[in-house]
Amino acid sequence: MAERKPVIVSEEELRLQREYMQMVRENPERPASYHVVTYGCQMNAHDSEKLAGMLRDMGMEEAPDREHADFVIFNTCCVRDNAERRALGNVTWLKEIRKQNPKLIIAVCGCMIQQPGMADRILRQYKFIDLAFGTSNLHKLPELMHKKLQSDRAVVQVEDEDTIAEDVPVKRLRKDSAYITIMYGCDNFCSYCIVPYVRGRERSREKSAILNEARQLKESGVKEIMLLGQNVNSYGKGLAEETNFARLLQELDEIGIPRIRFMTSHPKDLSDELIEVLRHSRHILPQFHLPVQSGNDEILRRMNRRYDRARYLDRVRKLREAVPGIGLTTDIIVGFPGETEEQFLDTMALVDEVGYDSAFTFIYSPRTGTVAAGLADQVPEDVAADRIQRLIALQDRRQKEEMARFLGMEEEVLVEGLSRRSDKAVSGKGRHGVSITFGGTEEDVGRIIRVRVTEIKNNTLMAERLD
Ligand code: 5AD
Ligand code: SF4
Repeated sequence: MAERKPVIVSEEELRLQREYMQMVRENPERPASYHVVTYGCQMNAHDSEKLAGMLRDMGMEEAPDREHADFVIFNTCCVRDNAERRALGNVTWLKEIRKQNPKLIIAVCGCMIQQPGMADRILRQYKFIDLAFGTSNLHKLPELMHKKLQSDRAVVQVEDEDTIAEDVPVKRLRKDSAYITIMYGCDNFCSYCIVPYVRGRERSREKSAILNEARQLKESGVKEIMLLGQNVNSYGKGLAEETNFARLLQELDEIGIPRIRFMTSHPKDLSDELIEVLRHSRHILPQFHLPVQSGNDEILRRMNRRYDRARYLDRVRKLREAVPGIGLTTDIIVGFPGETEEQFLDTMALVDEVGYDSAFTFIYSPRTGTVAAGLADQVPEDVAADRIQRLIALQDRRQKEEMARFLGMEEEVLVEGLSRRSDKAVSGKGRHGVSITFGGTEEDVGRIIRVRVTEIKNNTLMAERLD
């Protein structure tokens, strides 16, 4: 792996972007409204909040949907084939909308654009795209928008750099809960995964920048922060100050924001030190997303995960011992090249043994440029489809069994909104990460409310208020 230094985007550059923002704001030709379409993970959701923040500061109003916007931007994902196809399908469909609104500007950004050769391909095949930029150029949207307004040609910028840009304006999706990115990129090169190629090398934000952001969020009344990174457990590598994720969490815990969550963790880097911090913390929620991917040692080895089943189960045991009742969730891939029925059954047995509160299950999807895409023995689609169905059925049953531990228990819920089924009920996540629904009104949204769990309905917990 080539050594690459992270590029800290300079204050000067950010000032320049603010100047572009103002130029766009003052340009009568600029779009009046925008709509951001987001695919993929929380990292992308947070990037979209930054896109929205910059667009707002360029004087544009948020449109309720893409049909009513003059500027539509697709923030894409390419982790699996279906996410990529969906994005491209929707971009193509938007071409029709432009027949009704000739002023419409169509932009595409995110992981899909950052794939080698993709920018050229998109511009050759999808000539109606006006603006395209990669994950490392996000902060340059004002400049690119300014250029686009001066030209009839498509504006494209994709650089192979590992940037960290501080102080990009953010328009947050929620008032009560906020994302904080703590590290970017990934160095793990799991053999199936495209992320290291499109999000670049691992790089951590300065601890002081993260703590400042958290303090400001607390001041503004935020009740929950979600720390983001592809591999939060390796936070701190390469920083001048010697630190790590456990220490960062401890300092964040002391700030006093009521709820702290984080994702994603890599089992190989989940240290005893971190588990000790969880054991003693006041505000870190008792929940843990710990992707296992497979329960078979040979598959894990070929996935380049660098842990085995025994090590994974040891981490689970330690977590449960330190934080009794902790909510565990995971990611699993079925149909990795060469996966036999016996190897798949090892995954089934692990899922049965651990008992997750929920599991994200995926059929392996070959990604061009990754090691696994070149492996012989790709598993036939029907075999993989059959396996994932059996896995989902097992997880459904185990999930129900695990939910039973909440019956009669007190929980605290951060209310996200009215329940989808009734306007006299609200729902949100409990401390363990499970959705809870109970009687309430719009006024409860954004508040933390104490409840007692009374019933389990379709994997949702129903509860009564205690406050
Ligand atoms: N095919 C299927 N699933 C994948 N994931 C990542 N890459 C692939 C792929 N090529 C899954 C992993 C990861 C989650 C975010 O997406 O389970 O943890
Ligand atoms: Fe992909 Fe593995 Fe990095 Fe996660 S840890 S982003 S699965 S390479």
